[in-house]
Amino acid sequence: MLRLEGVSHSYDDRAVLRGVTLDLAERRIGVIGANGSGKSTLARTLNGLVLPDEGRVSLGEWDTRRHARHIRRRVGFVFSDAANQIIMPTVVEDVEIGLRSLRLGRAETERRVNEILTRHGLADHRDHPGHLLSGGQKQLLALASVLVTEPEVLVCDEPTTLLDLRNTRMVHRTLDGLDQQVVLFTHDLDLLADFDRVLVMHEGRVAFDGAPTDAIGFYTKLLDEDTDPGGRAS
Ligand SMILES: Nc1ncnc2c1ncn2[C@@H]1O[C@H](COP(=O)(O)OP(=O)(O)O)[C@@H](O)[C@H]1O
Ligand SMILES: [Mg+2]
Repeated sequence: MLRLEGVSHSYDDRAVLRGVTLDLAERRIGVIGANGSGKSTLARTLNGLVLPDEGRVSLGEWDTRRHARHIRRRVGFVFSDAANQIIMPTVVEDVEIGLRSLRLGRAETERRVNEILTRHGLADHRDHPGHLLSGGQKQLLALASVLVTEPEVLVCDEPTTLLDLRNTRMVHRTLDGLDQQVVLFTHDLDLLADFDRVLVMHEGRVAFDGAPTDAIGFYTKLLDEDTDPGGRAS
């Protein structure tokens, strides 16, 4: 289980995470919050892309500071902009590259790559350049490239932000069907209806932690207070 203990982080003198303590045990966890509330920074602490200035992030006995390589293998990460994760000349190579460091051997590598391409509807595109895929397919390719390494946890930082509704639904269905634990950072509140737990980030803290409907209610109220000049006083 991912555990955060008193995690704080600043960029220069700007505090972005302020003492976040969480046990992330549930299978489907959503994180919402306004732009700048610290979501991406929090997401990045989960696999050691960002190391906390104070506090600790761990997965079981492993710590992101001391066991970065181990944690990266177990906590997969998907960004908003799938194009940044597509680096190889063809779809199949993009999926293979993630496996290289695992040294599985040719047969097992091929088996896993074929299986993941088929599962994500990309088998017909295996020899195409990834950058020619549709937006949704690019995101599925980014997902496939991470999932092929069989992480325990998948962290997705706004994976549908750049997608239209149809592609958003496609990515959502894919996330829905995964066996792995998913921690989804998103602005697509309706994707979270059947999640086990939703956190609301506000100014670097977890301002709410509970069921999806309650979290969305809290977040909406927070936004109303922020935009309504009279709201803060009432
Ligand atoms: N690499 C960085 N260097 C400096 N400031 C950053 C960096 N990344 C994010 N910030 C700032 O930290 C704050 C929180 O950002 P972020 O974690 O990306 O929040 P969110 O994902 O909720 O929009 C923002 O004010 C942002 O401008
Ligand atoms: Mg962000």
